[in-house]
Amino acid sequence: MNTDTPLLFRPMPLRGLTLPNRLVLAPMMQYRAENGFATDWHLAHYGKFALGGFGVVMTEVVSVEKAGRITHGDLGLWSDEFIPGLKRVTDFIHSQGALAAIQIGHSGRKASSQRVWEGGGPLTAADAANGEAPWTPRGPSDLPYGPEFPKPHALTIPEIEELIIKFGEAVARADRAGFDIVEIHGAHGYLISSFLSPVTNNRQDAYGGDLSRRMKFALDVTTAIRANWPSHKPLFFRISIEDGAGKEGWSLEDSLAIAPLLAERGVDIIDCSSGGINGSPTVQNSIKGLGYQVPYAEQIKNAAKVPSMAVGLILYPQQAEDVVQSGQSDLIAVGRQALYDPFWPLHALQALAPDATFKHWNESSGWWLQRRANAIAKFGLAPSGEPLPK
Ligand SMILES: Cc1cc2nc3c(=O)[nH]c(=O)nc-3n(C[C@H](O)[C@H](O)[C@H](O)COP(=O)(O)O)c2cc1C
Repeated sequence: MNTDTPLLFRPMPLRGLTLPNRLVLAPMMQYRAENGFATDWHLAHYGKFALGGFGVVMTEVVSVEKAGRITHGDLGLWSDEFIPGLKRVTDFIHSQGALAAIQIGHSGRKASSQRVWEGGGPLTAADAANGEAPWTPRGPSDLPYGPEFPKPHALTIPEIEELIIKFGEAVARADRAGFDIVEIHGAHGYLISSFLSPVTNNRQDAYGGDLSRRMKFALDVTTAIRANWPSHKPLFFRISIEDGAGKEGWSLEDSLAIAPLLAERGVDIIDCSSGGINGSPTVQNSIKGLGYQVPYAEQIKNAAKVPSMAVGLILYPQQAEDVVQSGQSDLIAVGRQALYDPFWPLHALQALAPDATFKHWNESSGWWLQRRANAIAKFGLAPSGEPLPK
């Protein structure tokens, strides 16, 4: 790669590692784990994005304890038994020259849910009859996620301290499973996010009340994770910059306040999402605009002075390149566009650098695709499925 290489595709050093490019697969739940264990699904699913040219392939959220799963289909890392299944996935990602990231989290009061395509509601007696029994969610307070959702158990201080240790233990396992990057899931109304927001945290102790006490859980988890995560490996933190509860909720101003505190504790990148405190940020009726969260990433990078990652309807190669070129974020995470086209990074490179050959593709495809391209050029054909020219 030379200086003509689009910025999106230039390597980026971060701590002791070098990200091969600036494109990260966004964390996306698969609901395909079996009792928390990774399956062949995860190998094939994450493997295709490594083949597709993502510099960093990030897993869906992986829970630090059994009760911290959202659904029965979530991945877990609360015991060493989970390491080999995840190691298969990271080994393949590495074999393709990409880095492997894992998102670590806890569902909090959004636990005991159905998979989205099963309705996304609370688990019911009918689910229990199918072997998927409900359980009691755990949260900062006993405020349920919705009227039909179970009342969470409000964590005691000793239980909070125990959970913080579990976060540390989970990332120590993630290191042994071969992951290069950890992202802490502090967004979307799940446990960490629900400690931050005044809408979901009505405690009046060391972990609730004013802003600094609501931030304490997130900061303590970060400290525990950094202590258990090798110092040469990067740490990301995903936050809902605004949590979706309007004036009552967690705000941009609050995010600007926490960002430098996270950086002091060893966070390298803030992944800037939004919403989710009272519903899913993605499963929603309102359609958001192109790059709708990029202004958040820009604020974190330029106002809070902490490196950031932008995510949310980043669909087009030039759009992504413009975001990093203009200094709005350091990294780009791509979610649904990658589900649509797992080879999106390789296609983006060809769109941004039209003279790029197929040498960046794996040989098993690239050698043939170059010849296909030669034929297309010779006969003036359309490159991908458009009607033949008349
Ligand atoms: C199928 C699916 C599953 C998701 N699962 C997670 C998740 O596990 N953790 C998370 O932080 N966000 C999750 N998200 C949100 C995405 O990471 C991303 O922020 C969101 O989809 C917006 O980006 P996009 O427009 O590029 O898809 C999920 C989104 C989708 C579509």
